[in-house]
Amino acid sequence: MTITLLGSYNGVELIRHELKRFGLMGFNSSPTSAPFEGIVLVKGSLRVAYDSEVEIVGPGAVVTMHPVKGDVCIIAMQDAEFIYISSAPIFDSYRRGVERFHQMATEIAQKDGYTASHCERIRKYSVLIGCELGLSARELLSLSCGALFHDIGKTQIPDEILRKPGRLTPEEFDIMKMHTIYGRDMMSSPSNPFLHIGSTVAEQHHERYDGSGYPYGLKGEEIYLPAAIVAVVDSYDAMTSKRPYQRPKSKQEAIDEIRALRGKLYDPRVVDAFLKVVSTLDDL
Ligand SMILES: [Fe+2]
Repeated sequence: MTITLLGSYNGVELIRHELKRFGLMGFNSSPTSAPFEGIVLVKGSLRVAYDSEVEIVGPGAVVTMHPVKGDVCIIAMQDAEFIYISSAPIFDSYRRGVERFHQMATEIAQKDGYTASHCERIRKYSVLIGCELGLSARELLSLSCGALFHDIGKTQIPDEILRKPGRLTPEEFDIMKMHTIYGRDMMSSPSNPFLHIGSTVAEQHHERYDGSGYPYGLKGEEIYLPAAIVAVVDSYDAMTSKRPYQRPKSKQEAIDEIRALRGKLYDPRVVDAFLKVVSTLDDL
């Protein structure tokens, strides 16, 4: 996402946004929310979810909210450019938040031996499945943030365990499992207020539909749906990625494995949505 302040006067700001396909911006109502927010779409297509209402808009569309009363999640369905109008000055804190967000995502990915583009790919795949499942604005915001930072807790796992080339011992695996709890705690810390919404995804992304996951052994629909989505996408990505200790599976082998585990490890609703959209994942 690229943001540029086009002009401001008396607290009113015009901010240009460029969002790549499946890029996302969101906000929720708070005592500090601007009393008026508006968007004019210049190029591309946006999916605007406002609480549980969804609207797809094209160039020339004007979307206004005054005041913002609920959660808003805006997703670019194609590369998009829009002007965002706020009646309160938000640009500086907003830009700092966006920069910090991306910097943290890069640091986490590098710690785990991945790249920032790997995390962004998991986020986009997850959002695509979330849209297919008709998640609410709040669930989509939680999914997007949680998908990007789901392994943030690994920054607290010792390198000799995290990067061990062979199989972990049971004791080492017990330590590794703690990354879910560490992740939840880091994301719900007051020092990271913009990550709070994704904390349940970090906590539950290794839970499995049949109760065989961790940290709690939650089952079926006890598992938060955005976390169940990240579970499928993260597994698919791990199966198809090159790792030091395993040959990557072909995309078709990975898809067949996910399908075979429908209703066992993975939520059937998520697997069905995944199978519907998987052919478009290559384009992202
Ligand atoms: Fe994980």
